[in-house]
Amino acid sequence: MQSLLGFEGKRVVVTGAYSGIGASLVELLREAGADQIVVLDIKEPEAAVDEFIETDMGNPVSIDAALAAIAATDRGVDVLFNNAGVAATLPADTVMRVNMLGLKRLTSGLMPNMRSGGAIVNTASVAGNRWPEHLAQITALLSIDSWDEGIAWIADNETLIADGYFFSKECVQVYTMQTAKVATAQGLRINSVCPSPVDTPLLPAFRETMTDEIIDWAIDAGAGRVATAADQARSLLFLGSDLASYVNGVNLLVDGGYTAALQMGQVALPGQ
Ligand SMILES: NC(=O)c1ccc[n+]([C@@H]2O[C@H](COP(=O)([O-])OP(=O)(O)OC[C@H]3O[C@@H](n4cnc5c(N)ncnc54)[C@H](O)[C@@H]3O)[C@@H](O)[C@H]2O)c1
Repeated sequence: MQSLLGFEGKRVVVTGAYSGIGASLVELLREAGADQIVVLDIKEPEAAVDEFIETDMGNPVSIDAALAAIAATDRGVDVLFNNAGVAATLPADTVMRVNMLGLKRLTSGLMPNMRSGGAIVNTASVAGNRWPEHLAQITALLSIDSWDEGIAWIADNETLIADGYFFSKECVQVYTMQTAKVATAQGLRINSVCPSPVDTPLLPAFRETMTDEIIDWAIDAGAGRVATAADQARSLLFLGSDLASYVNGVNLLVDGGYTAALQMGQVALPGQ
């Protein structure tokens, strides 16, 4: 099985691996035989990793320093997992920085250093499923290269961005699709997983910002049990592996059937 996944001899970068989905992913990558696991996080993971680079994904200076540290070893990168994320218990501006601007900066900075045959996998969310309603605005934001101009655009669009979480995940889904074509030119793939509620240290923050009623309803509307971090990590591992060799530009719903049930009219939003 290890060789089917194809992680042997590979150098893998994971953001947000101190806890939750990212920590579970690191365990699976080890089992899959990944050669070098590099973690970028604000907190040092307890699990043994080959390299920890303390990085604030909401800070461009910190991200650029991480890019320089990754490039310094003279070994390319095979797979990048953009998993770090925060909830709207933090200010909208911070949510947009970490979940979207930082993800894009790290990805575009790392892509030239990635080896053909590699993959980028983002942790998006079902919270981003309504991107078609905002495609023009999301495309406008994604077309901005400068960090400061991105921040200014965010400040000018506070009503649209609201608490930052839903919009940031819509941006991640669109970024995944937009970058897929570009990635093929380099022999790379880019995909996302879109989880529904997951039992991680972040879940209480979603209960606070979205209410218990909405979170419990979303769990019941899907599989009837909350997802585990491992449920999500397995799908991340698949998309980063050679098993997904022809999967590109996909936002994979890992939601226990929640979106399907909603779209098929089998469940209704609370109060409807
Ligand atoms: N838990 C859920 O219900 C759920 C649902 C959908 C999507 N997600 C997404 O899954 C991803 C992982 O979250 P999780 O649920 O495992 O939560 P978590 O809080 O356990 O993990 C988040 C990780 O990101 C790190 N992190 C936080 N801020 C950072 C920063 N500024 N720079 C670098 N690293 C930072 C944390 O230290 C942690 O390791 C996030 O992108 C989140 O949006 C989670």
